[in-house]
Amino acid sequence: MDFPDISFFINRRTIRRYRPEPLPEGLLEQLLEAAAHAPSTGNMQLYSVVVTTDPTEKKALAPYHFGQPQVEGAAAVLTFCADFHRFSRWCQERGATPCYDNLQSFMAATLDTIAFAQQFNTLAESAGLGVCWLGTTTYNAGEIASALRLPGLVVPLITLTVGYPADNGEDAGRLPVEAVTHYGRYRDYTTADIDRLYSEKESRDDSRRFVAENGKETLAQVFTDVRYPRGNNELFSEKFLGFLKSSGFIR
Ligand SMILES: Cc1cc2nc3c(=O)[nH]c(=O)nc-3n(C[C@H](O)[C@H](O)[C@H](O)COP(=O)(O)O)c2cc1C
Repeated sequence: MDFPDISFFINRRTIRRYRPEPLPEGLLEQLLEAAAHAPSTGNMQLYSVVVTTDPTEKKALAPYHFGQPQVEGAAAVLTFCADFHRFSRWCQERGATPCYDNLQSFMAATLDTIAFAQQFNTLAESAGLGVCWLGTTTYNAGEIASALRLPGLVVPLITLTVGYPADNGEDAGRLPVEAVTHYGRYRDYTTADIDRLYSEKESRDDSRRFVAENGKETLAQVFTDVRYPRGNNELFSEKFLGFLKSSGFIR
């Protein structure tokens, strides 16, 4: 198939190191304007993005991303936020009563925000920029919201660091597409399926290295015991839920 250019999508990589040059004037705005043509719930565009380019402001955000060097190293740090504040303000100004302080509305805004962020990601990469997503955003959403002066009903969901690549990134590999595709109905995985679908991932050099370095028996244990352990998941769930309540999305 020659359209769309499949190889562009297959060969893209997360870029975590950037050259120290700024982005050309107007480029971000152009990319964001195009990204905003992503689909959104009722075309409400339930998102905002906060762009941080000032070195002092990037430095202030870095600890909330646990010091990941991309934050200070990128030309721009983009914090994508679920935003029902602006739409609610519009309602209030127009004699309509907003009713978006609930989980359904948060989910709608979340879906819009991620579609917008992913569209921006693809556009930025096709313009020759390197991008890294930072999931640490929801770990410290309250702190990030304070630093960025976010009002209620605005929740930071994902941060994208953006700049000209200083390297080509690493090929992280993917599961075979059959692992993630079901036709007609969900077909649950047998032990043999799991063995087959994860064998390539488990036999990669970097996977074997992770297992050895962390003193684990399997790659899965690196995920459950080291990278995404229960203690962290529960701690950050509680923190995020507390922030969602204080933001007014959940009572
Ligand atoms: C929601 C989300 C959160 C992520 N968080 C981080 C992060 O905090 N730090 C990081 O270096 N990469 C992060 N990544 C990038 C992934 O590690 C990366 O996409 C994955 O390993 C596949 O690599 P590739 O994008 O180069 O194909 C995140 C990606 C997503 C989609």
